[in-house]
Amino acid sequence: MRLDKYLSNATDYSRSQVKKLVREGRVTVNGEPASDAARATSAADSVALDEVLIAPPGKRYIMFNKPAGVVSATKDSEHPTAIDYLDEPRAEQLQIAGRLDIDATGLLLITDDGQWNHRVTSPPSSKDGAGCTKIYRVELAEPLQPALVDKFAAGIWLEGEKRRTLPADLRILDEHTARLGIREGKYHQVKRMFAALGNYVEALHRESIGAIVLDEYLAPGEYRALTRDEVASI
Ligand code: URA
Repeated sequence: MRLDKYLSNATDYSRSQVKKLVREGRVTVNGEPASDAARATSAADSVALDEVLIAPPGKRYIMFNKPAGVVSATKDSEHPTAIDYLDEPRAEQLQIAGRLDIDATGLLLITDDGQWNHRVTSPPSSKDGAGCTKIYRVELAEPLQPALVDKFAAGIWLEGEKRRTLPADLRILDEHTARLGIREGKYHQVKRMFAALGNYVEALHRESIGAIVLDEYLAPGEYRALTRDEVASI
């Protein structure tokens, strides 16, 4: 790829701005000042702008520890969005792969790879639906009865839906706390499942999506790139 294309794909600079940066001597390739914006460049080259190394352009895959009060959206006029937390070039190209409610916390995946996003979010019944299991830690207002485990396993009728939810895996951790694994992502699904059984979700935290587990070193509001293995696991 031409150097100007490579740098404009990897940063917020346009191609004409990159050409100017090259003319000004601010770009180096493998430690040497670049003089030709058209020179061939690949991910094997070390490209730097003002002596700061620029990561090669490519699809981006991010895990974010969503705090409560943050919207899973790219834009919102009232509340901070997950994208507002990211110090990333071309942030407008990033999309949320599987939303969380504003009051829910935990693992949020963000990417600019539309196909990967689709695999994260599509239900197992769709043509290429991976149906990744999402695991939530749920705190409930009313005590949890052991009989609920079988009810979740059998699937639950949600108001306004034509069929039961897919079998869900409920583990009761204590009287008011459970861990729930579901393979779909219907609107407010976890809250509606418990509401259908007369309970009320007081706190909801997503721990994992498929094999991708929220990194314990990420404080709420922090993020990191996914590893290659994590990306490939979806
Ligand atoms: N289910 C919900 O009810 N809310 C979420 O944010 C995620 C799953």
